[in-house]
Amino acid sequence: MTTSSSETLSPVEAHRAAVSPEADLERCPLMPNYGPPAVQFVRGEGPYLWDSHGEVYLDFLSGLAVTSLGHSHPAVAAAVAEQAHRLLHVSNLYATEHNGVVATMLDQAVGDGTPAGGQVFFCNSGAEANEAAIKLARRAGGHGRHVVVCAFQSFHGRTLATLAATGQPQKWEAFQPLPEGFRHVVWNDLEELERSLDDTVAAVLLEPVQGEGGVNPATVEYFQGVERLCRERDILFMVDEVQTGLARTGRWFGFQHFDVSPDVVTMAKALGNGVPIGACWAKAEVAAAFSRGDHATTYGGQPLATAAARAVLSTMKAIDAPRRARETGAALAEALRKLPKVADCRGLGLLLAVELDGVEAGPVAAECLKNGLVVNAVTSSAIRLAPPLTIEESHVAEAVNKLAGCIESVAESVVAPSESG
Ligand SMILES: Cc1ncc(COP(=O)(O)O)c(C=O)c1O
Repeated sequence: MTTSSSETLSPVEAHRAAVSPEADLERCPLMPNYGPPAVQFVRGEGPYLWDSHGEVYLDFLSGLAVTSLGHSHPAVAAAVAEQAHRLLHVSNLYATEHNGVVATMLDQAVGDGTPAGGQVFFCNSGAEANEAAIKLARRAGGHGRHVVVCAFQSFHGRTLATLAATGQPQKWEAFQPLPEGFRHVVWNDLEELERSLDDTVAAVLLEPVQGEGGVNPATVEYFQGVERLCRERDILFMVDEVQTGLARTGRWFGFQHFDVSPDVVTMAKALGNGVPIGACWAKAEVAAAFSRGDHATTYGGQPLATAAARAVLSTMKAIDAPRRARETGAALAEALRKLPKVADCRGLGLLLAVELDGVEAGPVAAECLKNGLVVNAVTSSAIRLAPPLTIEESHVAEAVNKLAGCIESVAESVVAPSESG
């Protein structure tokens, strides 16, 4: 590394330094757990981002399904600014203004417009929402009945318990021993799930669409079958809606596509449109398993985050965000399926993955970024798209054109050497 002192490192340089083979770790202020970033973003508005050199990008990733209303949404910005001037934090020892209102709004969303009869615990992230769900399941199950059954390829977070729930063994290895009490089954295979259920099982935890695992939707038969098995055996049916929740898939929650009624629903990401907030909703009779003092957080449900969530939920309702995700998602998927070198497009609403035909997804995502389109390679052969739910037809056309060009140029660059040789 050639930079002379930490003061002279820009965030991009610092991040690069952290992961470069010659990294001067003493001088680098950031831990090396993230890869080197290609750009530094300094501003966002609607579906557009600007980098530190003034280049503009169309954001079809939304900070990993977070900024569903687009960047710097005026209603969210106003709510956050107003709240910041009035009251930021007092702790959960005291009542604050928005959390009851937001909990009621979430309960209505879980009930698809009518009260679902649940209660909410607020926290700060998706992993924390799942931690709350796992602790609730253990509390409801009692000692000896603590196992949570999850699917392979699932993603539930990076804390130790949610990492153990995550069905990706390659992510476990470095951190053994993980907390015990998690069992994994093949995705969308009801018979295997049934075989995994014994009287140590407290809950089943599934995503309606596996987001990080490659955008793999559940089938209706699977979710309905899981619900039936859970009811027959008095096991909690818990749904991780951290990525799929809050209109992303074309319904308020992904499970609503399958006409099931889970006992516990976790969410985060889009709830604050970028302000960190997570929530664990549970049917009131399930939530009753928690006694006073069983679970807590310093920041969860504090006024700044709940002010943002209140503005997000009001805006989503006003613009009928689920319908927008459904309609725009259908148009986007149809356009993507027609592209050369696209084998398939899967997903629900505006959570989509484009399966490439013989082209590596990593280089395509990098080429997209160079050409002003933000997407990510969710597997080695698939590009994930999770644009803001507020995008218009013109943004769909712009993204599809850019993606088509980038797929083509990567495909050509791979073919070129063997043709010329
Ligand atoms: C389905 C799902 N659950 C949990 C998480 C973890 O959320 P967080 O990163 O906010 O802890 C994620 C993050 O991508 C997710 O997609």
